[in-house]
Amino acid sequence: MVEHDALHTTRDAYDAAASTYAELFRDSLRDRPLDRAMLDAFAEVVGAGGNGRVADVGCGPGHVTEYLDGLGRGLTVCGIDASPAMIELARRACPGLRFEVGSMAALDLADGALGGVLSRWSVIHTPPEELPPVLAEFHRVLAPGGHLLIGFSATDGAAHPTQAFDHAVAVAYRWWPDHLAELLRAAGLTETARLVREPEPTDPRPFQEVQLLVRKT
Ligand SMILES: C[S@@+](CC[C@H](N)C(=O)[O-])C[C@H]1O[C@@H](n2cnc3c(N)ncnc32)[C@H](O)[C@@H]1O
Repeated sequence: MVEHDALHTTRDAYDAAASTYAELFRDSLRDRPLDRAMLDAFAEVVGAGGNGRVADVGCGPGHVTEYLDGLGRGLTVCGIDASPAMIELARRACPGLRFEVGSMAALDLADGALGGVLSRWSVIHTPPEELPPVLAEFHRVLAPGGHLLIGFSATDGAAHPTQAFDHAVAVAYRWWPDHLAELLRAAGLTETARLVREPEPTDPRPFQEVQLLVRKT
């Protein structure tokens, strides 16, 4: 199956790159006030909803999972990633948090278990034709009224719903924000807010970075 091939390739690539990735990104939120603002807003709306269980899906080395946990919004945060090496690093860096190896296409969580799902640049390696089932899985594990914050890079314009790009670790895909918002809506996840950040001169690629906050209706 295509998803399995893609998942295995991505997992192996992140296993090989895990230590370098962790070193590069461990402190990256410090210089990213807009990312922090979206995470803070996500934590606040999830906390206010009464179900503080959150999964950071495709958590990598756990630095964002740790940030969410430290916000003091009463969240119970866990991290899930396909890469065992990433999970090992996350467990070592944050011994007080739960991290599990798993695939976002088949989460080991009950229907409606979570108040929040965070997917921060983790669906970028999912082949476009495999994305709708992943969004359906996010919808399945969210409780009614639960929130998803999803981050990705934008394509060059509305004429390109999706475009492959040359990612340093594994093949990756960008999305036109309205197109991804429409796929989310079709999965039962309605947009409540979006952040579009223009590329900085220091960014490795000249792509807009997009974060969509959506809600299970
Ligand atoms: C670009 S990194 C993002 C890591 C982290 N979310 C961050 O914001 O820095 C993508 C992560 O998603 C994970 N990943 C990719 N596809 C996945 C899948 N289908 N299931 C679970 N994890 C996946 C990779 O192993 C990798 O750790």
